[in-house]
Amino acid sequence: MNILLVDDDNNLIKPLVNLLENYYTIKTANTLKEAREVVKYHYIDIVLLDINLPDGSGIAFLDELMNLYPDIIVIMATANDNIRDAINCVKKGAVDYLVKPYNFDELKLIIENAVNTRELKRKVWQLENEIKSYQSDIEFIGISEKIKEVLEKIKNVYDKDVSILILGASGTGKNLLAQLIHKKSKRRDKPFISINCAAIPETLIENEFFGHIKGAYTGAYTFQYGKLEAVTDGDLFLDEIGALSLNSQAKLLKVIEEKKFMRIGDTKEIQFSGRIIAATSLNLEQAIKERRFREDLYYRLSVFPIELPQLKEHKEDIRLLVDYFIKTFNKKYNLDISGADEKLIKLFEDYDWPGNVRELQNVIERLCLLAAGNILTLTELTDGYAKLLNKDLMTNKKSKIKTLEEVEEEYIKKILEMTNNNISQTAKILGISRKTLYNKILKKA
Ligand SMILES: Nc1ncnc2c1ncn2[C@@H]1O[C@H](COP(=O)(O)OP(=O)(O)OP(=O)(O)O)[C@@H](O)[C@H]1O
Ligand SMILES: [Mg+2]
Repeated sequence: MNILLVDDDNNLIKPLVNLLENYYTIKTANTLKEAREVVKYHYIDIVLLDINLPDGSGIAFLDELMNLYPDIIVIMATANDNIRDAINCVKKGAVDYLVKPYNFDELKLIIENAVNTRELKRKVWQLENEIKSYQSDIEFIGISEKIKEVLEKIKNVYDKDVSILILGASGTGKNLLAQLIHKKSKRRDKPFISINCAAIPETLIENEFFGHIKGAYTGAYTFQYGKLEAVTDGDLFLDEIGALSLNSQAKLLKVIEEKKFMRIGDTKEIQFSGRIIAATSLNLEQAIKERRFREDLYYRLSVFPIELPQLKEHKEDIRLLVDYFIKTFNKKYNLDISGADEKLIKLFEDYDWPGNVRELQNVIERLCLLAAGNILTLTELTDGYAKLLNKDLMTNKKSKIKTLEEVEEEYIKKILEMTNNNISQTAKILGISRKTLYNKILKKA
């Protein structure tokens, strides 16, 4: 906590500094001019502000602070004859007031309250920024070598203060993995804040990162925190980082290198103590070649690159994922589905899943909602999507699903083999006439 004490009487300030500096970082100012300089260039959480100052009124400065830095907590200080002013200040936004000469016990209490208020305020805007979809019960499913490798790899990085880059095609689980890393790390009790770089227009992205002070530019009517500030010691998840413009990439690189940034329109540097977890489905190396992505930023971010495999590369996990998704949809829709039919699983294992785990999840969700019984079967695969999935299987050379005609042909061949090509016997076994059998054989010939 950074506290600024503003008073022209050094005899009053000194004992306060002695009392408070063991617990807080203290700055002092004897005039309004000095105080303005301090808040301009330093990050201040709490101000203890005298009303009568040599170069003006503390009340005017309170107004300035409320206007420019509404996150700062202000406590007014006043002599006995000025209590009415102090009360007015509380109406304007100061949290409390102290009457001089100070009673140190009271002072300590009021400062402690101010510290709590400050922390509460911070918590509120952190929560406002946290992603709504943040799941607390994250499970990253997979026992395949590929997934085990990924889970092993992230163990090395949970508690390191380096940027992490998650690569992988759409729907492979990049967002989920980022949340898992956060949940497993020592930052787990700190915010997890996410910015989707592809969803925010170029003109607004800097605002999103840095925030702004009131009047920073036309239209900046109020003070706004940026996510670099809101994240504090937590994790800042930069999704679709490949979509950042070169200009914003340069600014982000500066933050990572210097561990500092400024709000737009502001003059003081703020420490960046968060960790960056970036993700992209883009081939960044290709983007570098095409000069769409900065090489230096890539190296900064890829200190720890983690690549998620496509679902077709770890089909061993399909069965587990199916069971897991059934469980989650049972819960979500209050269903009682016990599992999936073996034929359905086989069909899933043959499909290539271009949309990866997300696509599988979507299919399971549909099947769960359509299921007639308490087990998912091929029968439910009747909607448009399922046809697509089946069509894919039909054109797939490895396909195990055969047409009726193909099955019939194979069966006839098999019986003919068994009977050493005895037509009468074969026809008898198949329960058809010799003529029909002949016709079928001729048709195929
Ligand atoms: N291994 C897994 N275990 C359980 N659920 C998973 C797994 N992988 C992905 N999912 C689920 O699949 C869905 C898609 O995953 P996610 O959003 O993390 O993918 P992504 O790689 O970020 O996709 P995109 O590139 O489209 O943003 C999510 O609902 C996620 O919870
Ligand atoms: Mg994603």
